[in-house]
Amino acid sequence: TTQYRITLLPGDGIGPEIMLVAVDVLKVVGKQLDIRFEFQEALIGGAAIDATGEPLPPTTLEMCKDSDAVLLAAIGGYKWDNLPRHLRPETGLLGLRAGLGLFANLRPAKILPQLIDASSLKPEVVDGVDIMVVRELTGGVYFGQPKGIFTTETGEKRGVNTMAYTEAEIDRIGRVAFETAQKRQGKLCSVDKANVLEVSQLWRDRITQLATEYPDVELSHMYVDNAAMQLVRYPKQFDTIVTGNLFGDILSDAAAMLTGSIGMLPSASLGASGPGVFEPVHGSAPDIAGQDKANPLAQVLSAAMMLRYGLNQPIAADRIENAVLQVLDRGDRTGDIMSPGMNLLGCRAMGEALIEVLSGELTH
Ligand code: NAD
Ligand code: IPM
Ligand code: MN
Repeated sequence: TTQYRITLLPGDGIGPEIMLVAVDVLKVVGKQLDIRFEFQEALIGGAAIDATGEPLPPTTLEMCKDSDAVLLAAIGGYKWDNLPRHLRPETGLLGLRAGLGLFANLRPAKILPQLIDASSLKPEVVDGVDIMVVRELTGGVYFGQPKGIFTTETGEKRGVNTMAYTEAEIDRIGRVAFETAQKRQGKLCSVDKANVLEVSQLWRDRITQLATEYPDVELSHMYVDNAAMQLVRYPKQFDTIVTGNLFGDILSDAAAMLTGSIGMLPSASLGASGPGVFEPVHGSAPDIAGQDKANPLAQVLSAAMMLRYGLNQPIAADRIENAVLQVLDRGDRTGDIMSPGMNLLGCRAMGEALIEVLSGELTH
């Protein structure tokens, strides 16, 4: 038996609802494949603020460091939106990423044939789309100094953030992206704003330089405004995309919608060593929290990414991904991916459907 210690961070909003489903799925697959999961739960985000006064208690970071992988749901909500920046749930998430050195965020957006009708784009535009966004996660304008709200000489307030990347930061995310492209279709598109920003000029220069070490990868560059447009115009042109923290945040939400719903998109946040964090691309969805309406599939697919990228258990990962395809095949849908003639399920019922399929009891 292989045993793993997994830290669970359910967080806020729909987080606890979707986490329950993912844990149930992991337990079933673990039992079937003789993998033992030792789950330990910790506080982050608003839940941590309410309990301890801070969004990332030191014990949470310690527990995460001391585990084989971290499964995170989502953080944030209206209740904490007016707290000072250092006490906001989002600051806890950024602290977790920085604290674990998770500079590479892999966000796959793959169209499942079962969900073509759930996309807001025409079927012929989205059919066959399979994109991997490699987002830099611990640098750029999210972390650059100086930052803050300062008072000028005239007494006016001035908000400041700084977009900055060092060569070393660009090179390490660049290498992850080239290696990712090598394992896919061998095409890499680097997205920046080099026509305006110095930080992007350096980004483009370094990525271009790195390309000489990966002659089997076809590199192209695109400005971020055009990339946003091309993603909805003709998404099939993309294979692997590499970009900075903020551009990657925005483009991955856009890419998510190609697949029908942001409720379907998982991600993996990885560092040079140590445990990764596996989390959906979406947030805590406060508008539907506590109503049993959330789509748990992004969370479940994040658990599959944890098995594949974090624990090197590809068979277990395949099993979970296949179960997701099977429930979609039988027409099970949550509200966000619902289309006429399908079975509308809540979050919990979707979890039960997954367990049923995994256990081989195909009852309907
Ligand atoms: P969001 O992703 O939470 O929600 C956007 C829309 O998508 C909402 O209408 C929501 O109902 C819907 N949605 C999201 N996930 C869904 C799911 N699994 N099933 C069905 N529908 C789903 O983004 P937002 O509303 O901009 O942000 C809400 C809060 O979440 C904010 O506090 C934000 O900071 C936080 N946030 C956290 C993370 C994270 O934890 N990684 C990511 C994004 C946003
Ligand atoms: C995400 C989120 C986070 C980000 C926020 C909540 C800090 O939007 O994971 O995509 O901007 O990285
Ligand atoms: Mn985001």
